[in-house]
Amino acid sequence: MAEQEPLDSFSLPVPVTLRLCREADLPALEWYGEYTHDREIIRATFEAQERGDMLMLLADLNGFPVGQLWINLALKREERTGCLWAGRVFPWLRSLGLGSRLFALAERLLRERGYAGVEFGVEKDNPDARRLYERLGYRVIGSIPTEWIMRKDL
Ligand SMILES: CC(C)(COP(=O)(O)OP(=O)(O)OC[C@H]1O[C@@H](n2cnc3c(N)ncnc32)[C@H](O)[C@@H]1OP(=O)(O)O)[C@@H](O)C(=O)NCCC(=O)NCCS
Repeated sequence: MAEQEPLDSFSLPVPVTLRLCREADLPALEWYGEYTHDREIIRATFEAQERGDMLMLLADLNGFPVGQLWINLALKREERTGCLWAGRVFPWLRSLGLGSRLFALAERLLRERGYAGVEFGVEKDNPDARRLYERLGYRVIGSIPTEWIMRKDL
């Protein structure tokens, strides 16, 4: 018997909710150790969300934060520009549309708050991510040594 052959195969109907981070989510955002070194940044960002300076968007799949996108509302508030960072999706769930949904939600929330644009940096050695952002309507407006700066007007 060829045991390498699939023995069973099916699709799972999985509920996904996009929502803001709650304090109880903070340990899970460390993704079982991968981001434990960012524990203080995660906590500080949550505290900034409580002050109204940050939004931490989560993709909650069956109770676990499998994706995230954070919005800095304060950095360029006077220019009415939101700055995105820490966008990531759990490796096994990439290219299923979660990232695009998170970006669409970020843009909607910024528009609702009267923001006129969105910006963020993408590493120059990450052409896959840049391709996604260009598909979502972002354009390169500048660069620093390691990153392209992307922007979209809302
Ligand atoms: C970039 C990322 C957040 C997008 O989320 P996603 O759920 O995969 O996005 P979508 O399914 O909506 O879009 C898929 C697109 O994302 C990009 N993408 C997929 N996997 C990727 C990866 N490992 N790294 C970078 N970009 C990736 C591709 O452009 C892909 O389009 P394609 O199917 O035509 O190749 C996610 O892939 C990720 O976490 N990547 C690793 C971390 C990273 O690069 N973050 C971006 C920092 S600026």
